[in-house]
Amino acid sequence: MIFNKFVTIFVIIASYQTATVLALNNGLAITPQMGWNTWSSFGCNLNSDVILDTANKIVQYGFRDLGYEYIILDDCWSAGRNSSGYLMPNMTKFPGGISGLADKIHDLGMKIGIYSSAGTMTCARYSGSLGYEQKDADVWASWGVDYLKYDNCFNEGEEGTAQISYNRYNAMGQALNKTGRPMLYSMCNWGMDGPWNFAPTIANSWRTSGDLSDIFDRDDPQCPCAELDGLDCKVAGYQCSLTNVLNKAVYYPSKAFPGAWNDLDLLQVGNGAMTDDEYIAHFSIWAAMKSPMIMTNVLAKIDPQTLSILQNTAVLAVSQDSVGSSVTRRWRYFVDDTDVFGKGEIQLLTGGLSGGDQLVLFFNAGSKDREMNASLSEIFWEDAPRGTAPQVQQSWDIYDLWANRISNATALAIINGTASNPLNMTELGGARQVYSQVPPSNSTALMGSKVGSVKPSGSVLAKVKSHGVAMLRLRAQPTRKDEL
Ligand SMILES: *[C@@H]1O[C@H](CO)[C@@H](O)[C@H](O)[C@H]1NC(C)=O
Ligand SMILES: *[C@@H]1O[C@H](CO)[C@@H](O)[C@H](O)[C@H]1NC(C)=O
Ligand SMILES: *[C@@H]1O[C@H](CO)[C@@H](O)[C@H](O)[C@H]1NC(C)=O
Ligand SMILES: *[C@@H]1O[C@H](CO)[C@@H](O)[C@H](O)[C@H]1NC(C)=O
Ligand SMILES: *[C@@H]1O[C@H](CO)[C@@H](O)[C@H](O)[C@H]1NC(C)=O
Ligand SMILES: *[C@@H]1O[C@H](CO)[C@@H](O)[C@H](O)[C@H]1NC(C)=O
Ligand SMILES: *[C@@H]1O[C@H](CO)[C@@H](O)[C@H](O)[C@H]1NC(C)=O
Ligand SMILES: *[C@@H]1O[C@H](CO)[C@@H](O)[C@H](O)[C@H]1NC(C)=O
Repeated sequence: MIFNKFVTIFVIIASYQTATVLALNNGLAITPQMGWNTWSSFGCNLNSDVILDTANKIVQYGFRDLGYEYIILDDCWSAGRNSSGYLMPNMTKFPGGISGLADKIHDLGMKIGIYSSAGTMTCARYSGSLGYEQKDADVWASWGVDYLKYDNCFNEGEEGTAQISYNRYNAMGQALNKTGRPMLYSMCNWGMDGPWNFAPTIANSWRTSGDLSDIFDRDDPQCPCAELDGLDCKVAGYQCSLTNVLNKAVYYPSKAFPGAWNDLDLLQVGNGAMTDDEYIAHFSIWAAMKSPMIMTNVLAKIDPQTLSILQNTAVLAVSQDSVGSSVTRRWRYFVDDTDVFGKGEIQLLTGGLSGGDQLVLFFNAGSKDREMNASLSEIFWEDAPRGTAPQVQQSWDIYDLWANRISNATALAIINGTASNPLNMTELGGARQVYSQVPPSNSTALMGSKVGSVKPSGSVLAKVKSHGVAMLRLRAQPTRKDEL
């Protein structure tokens, strides 16, 4: 135990030092990774055809150009090991092997991710990588793989302290590095043993809790750890709701920085079980918390509303902002208007963006639409408490980042191939360039619409739908001096 505490302290110091020098130094995930993963839609029925079809649609509908870069194979791609101990792909599912698929994905201007588990088997009982780290990393590198999602099934009980989990996951981090091929390392140990304390030095992202399902706030016995238990959860589980995952992740936003992100899990947007407002809340919160933005919906069946959420460039600009720091939760209140599951709460999440802008996210998980408000003192509390932050004495313009959500008609035309997202990234030098502009562009595609302003020491008010958010970006009004 003493040893374990020592390790934790060491790691915290290390992550401070690496806040400017990237921990992994693989140059990847400087902003949270974006892409698409096979799992929620295809499970074990993945193959080259569905993956290439999806990748083509990601390009055609303009998702690639908006920054969705990685096509990630989840479990069930493998056919075990050959007699020399190297992983082999299932050649029925992947007639050209994974390398053949990787070539085609690369030709589309995208990158390819693969999956394994830090255990003897993957969750679907294919060969795991525990004890085979270098062989597996080498074979993936030889196929042209760019990304690894590394799960936690069948780990032989090698967990229980941060040190044990660190060792098991660090072995793969080292192996990936030794290949010499930059591969984004996405740790998926479900928040066990506090990865936010040890993973920033060894991985590009780490899952913060059990698996998210397409559920807004219903508790499920398969997701046994509640909020504060999440800090030392022994059975992470699955079927976790959006509010469950959020209410665990809010405790360690400061652990994330460019190259190292808290992963709240795959996006469920468009998978059908949440309402439009709930998906808007989901997408907004993931962007504000700097979680990876990995879609999982069936692209061949995308509807206009799903497309217009996933292609909201004003929200993506928050996710991909160059400051790279998560919002923090300023307050949370339980409210009387609960839903059938007895849940009802409201929250204020705020944080800094590039150019001195400030994000204000009102989250209404009550069952009624309501007006919410926050004072500038609350909004800039992280900068200095009790209203002493200099920003409290400024005037701000308020932009609503959902006000310019593209219309159903435009979204339909994008799916039809007769239109494209209003923000042409190619023309502007590419997604990375556009999102990382400082000061950020004031184009409506990146700022939404101006909906008001707030005077020094004033308050920001917004109407927030039930199970929805108001996502606002504050920009300082020019001072007289600036105008001269
Ligand atoms: C391996 O790690 C070293 C030291 O941090 C780093 O400089 C290098 O870029 C890494 N290489 C890859 C391929 O990740
Ligand atoms: C390979 O995929 C085919 C088609 O899905 C399946 O029938 C077969 O069992 C798989 N082989 C292995 C070793 O998993
Ligand atoms: C096993 O797979 C590796 C990597 O693909 C390959 O180099 C090796 O020749 C294979 N060994 C056998 C016995 O097939
Ligand atoms: C702000 O919200 C609080 C709590 O809901 C409420 O009591 C207060 O009246 C609101 N203030 C304004 C100006 O709307
Ligand atoms: C977009 O389409 C959906 C589904 O048909 C509909 O519910 C919604 O009201 C439409 N939105 C607008 C702004 O017309
Ligand atoms: C989509 O395409 C069909 C036929 O190709 C056309 O009739 C329809 O008007 C198009 N819809 C939009 C919104 O572009
Ligand atoms: C973006 O602009 C470029 C250069 O003007 C053009 O070639 C391309 O077709 C446009 N892309 C989209 C999706 O409209
Ligand atoms: C953006 O800023 C420019 C220069 O300050 C100004 O002319 C333009 O009207 C602004 N556009 C919007 C949409 O606010």
